[in-house]
Amino acid sequence: MSDKTNSREGFSSKFGVIAAAAGSAVGLGNIWRFPYVAGENGGGAFLLVYLGFVLTIGLSVMLAEFIIGRRAQKNALGAFRVLAPKSLWWLIGLMGIVAAFVIFAFYSTIAGWTLEYLVQAAANGFSGKDASQINEMFITFQHSLARPLIWQVAFIVLTAVIVVAGVQKGIEKYTKFLMPALFVLIIVLCIRALTLDGASQGLIFLFKPDFSKITGKVILEALGQAFFSMSIGMGALITYGSYIKKDNHLPKTAFQVVIADTMVAILAGIMIFPAVFAFGLSPNAGTGLVYQVLPNLFQQMTGGYVFAILFFLLLAIAALTSTISVLEVLVAWASEELKMPRRKATLVLSTLVAILGVFATLSFSNLSEVKIFGNGIFELMEKFAANTLLPLGGFFIVIFVGWKLGGKIVADELTNSNTIKVRFLKIFMFIVRYIAPVAILLVLFNSLGILKIG
Ligand code: TRP
Repeated sequence: MSDKTNSREGFSSKFGVIAAAAGSAVGLGNIWRFPYVAGENGGGAFLLVYLGFVLTIGLSVMLAEFIIGRRAQKNALGAFRVLAPKSLWWLIGLMGIVAAFVIFAFYSTIAGWTLEYLVQAAANGFSGKDASQINEMFITFQHSLARPLIWQVAFIVLTAVIVVAGVQKGIEKYTKFLMPALFVLIIVLCIRALTLDGASQGLIFLFKPDFSKITGKVILEALGQAFFSMSIGMGALITYGSYIKKDNHLPKTAFQVVIADTMVAILAGIMIFPAVFAFGLSPNAGTGLVYQVLPNLFQQMTGGYVFAILFFLLLAIAALTSTISVLEVLVAWASEELKMPRRKATLVLSTLVAILGVFATLSFSNLSEVKIFGNGIFELMEKFAANTLLPLGGFFIVIFVGWKLGGKIVADELTNSNTIKVRFLKIFMFIVRYIAPVAILLVLFNSLGILKIG
């Protein structure tokens, strides 16, 4: 297998690996999705369950994906073909490919919004508006026809351009300095949010758990959010894992990525919730939450004009480093398994995503009446991907690593063929074999009403 390692493109440095993987993990999931899902599901109680999932199941699934990818040196589907030939395990990869289509389709809707808001910020479009006018501005944009679609397509094109450039010159080069910049900016915004009058109410909402709020639905949403935010369960990190060098300390890398991802989510919460309460808005406003809240915050800041531009710029970039990882799953699969040239694969796949994505975007306007199982199109894609496809993918991934790959290979990957010491090998095996699969199934069954625990 080692001869393949040399001919295959890969990340060139350790920091590059972390930046790319953290770039995938940190995105709209942390800044757009975490606050609004936490807001709808009880705040503090949700955060607690979420953190529990991140540190146990999440971390293990992430490590499991890295192990599969680096071992196989292949895309999300091909990896299972290499490691378990003549079996049906590749179907896990196929599920990941489907998830990638769905996620990119709805994600690009929200990513498009960041571009609209970037332009609005630059044009000083929030200036002089009160909270209700800012609200209105968002609703008007969301319900309009052409603009959200144009931004969505623009975003998909942007992603495609970088993916065509390849791993080192595309993904690694940009994420390396853009991720740290986003981090710094969020901290600045947190400080401003915390000094607003009435900020404490937001902090109480986010950090004080009200245990009576924990229901089966809240638990499922927390699991789905953990998977979505960490980019796990669909093979994105199998794909990235295949670009990681043999001497990389996988557990360390996974841990650092998890810390970065979790910190950004919590910081986003600290940035949003104080502002939600200070401006008299409601935490359960749904998908528009950040877009409706933050412009108010910028107006209260010295230099708010500049901060608004910087924020939406960096948010767009954070989204971009995430969509890159989703498209890379599709492109790596098509180029390795279907033998399509990278360029053609990128073009064909992003066109298909754009077609599907149009429906997600229109579900806020012309198709808003269309309901499937009681959900709008966007909502259905989002919930189905986050709360079903990803956890199910994660379930099979840990089963694969725990029961099919076997302790020897896992130990070999975790210790880099016995060159580093890893203390928690046994615990890891125990989690991927028993704890994680059982926990994921319990949460899924519970939400389907097959089993009632909460
Ligand atoms: N984690 C990203 C975010 O939080 C979204 C994302 C990128 C993703 N790649 C993924 C989600 C793979 C699931 C699977 O914005």
